[in-house]
Amino acid sequence: MNNCPVGESLCYTNIMKTYIVGNWKMNFSVGESSVYLHKLLQKVRAARDLKIVVAPSTIALQPLSLQTDRKKIRLAAQTANPHDFGAYTGEVSFTQLRGIVDYCIIGHSERRHIFHETDKDVRNAVAAALRNGITPILCIGETETERTFGETYDVLRDQLLGGLSQVSTEDIAKVMIAYEPVWAISTTSDARLASPDDISAVTQFIRHTLEDTYSKKVASEIPILYGGSVRPSNAGAYLTIPDINGLLIGGASLIGEQFLDIIETARRVQS
Ligand code: PGA
Repeated sequence: MNNCPVGESLCYTNIMKTYIVGNWKMNFSVGESSVYLHKLLQKVRAARDLKIVVAPSTIALQPLSLQTDRKKIRLAAQTANPHDFGAYTGEVSFTQLRGIVDYCIIGHSERRHIFHETDKDVRNAVAAALRNGITPILCIGETETERTFGETYDVLRDQLLGGLSQVSTEDIAKVMIAYEPVWAISTTSDARLASPDDISAVTQFIRHTLEDTYSKKVASEIPILYGGSVRPSNAGAYLTIPDINGLLIGGASLIGEQFLDIIETARRVQS
């Protein structure tokens, strides 16, 4: 990790809630998604301070919204189009997702790098989510090359402030941030996992940046999640990083046993 430009170490957050978010990406048919959700609902207990969220593919969202028990598991979209309506063939808007999802993942690195979403697209999506009563989970993260060239904090600042630049001071408290270093996503090598120290330095940086731009209150109230090859074996270490309020999980969220194991870990860490 490059040297964090934040000098003093502050423990900001007193957020009591933990968020466990499963990003199913482009996996599972609608039927498989429904069966999987059914199994999760049987095993998960409702808890006010532990929010479980799953992000199935867009076609599964509507039927799953009728099936889920929102006290136990809430739904997130993986992306949506910032325009409310119109001639945008193939797209689904935040307006259309109103009432179906509570959250939307925005600016995931796969959207930025494979689908060339820009900071402007991300910023418009964050604004559209808020306009439609959907909580944006704004993803930020540096690539391996950016990290190697010492650009981590510049990239993170640009993505963070770029993504939030249309958000009013009133709405800022409704946003969640996910730090997902691109180099640590879906890795099978333990050597490439982000260390708790790396993540801690970044969360401090994010909160300092939020404090400079908004206020200390905002900086302390926005939940920050970590994502990047979270598994049952490392979830406990990540969840005990001060200032981390939850996890965004890809691969391990597709395997019921592993996802439930991580949820159980979150419950243990909280108690
Ligand atoms: P991973 O995916 O847990 O498989 O690394 C995380 C993500 O891409 O959100």
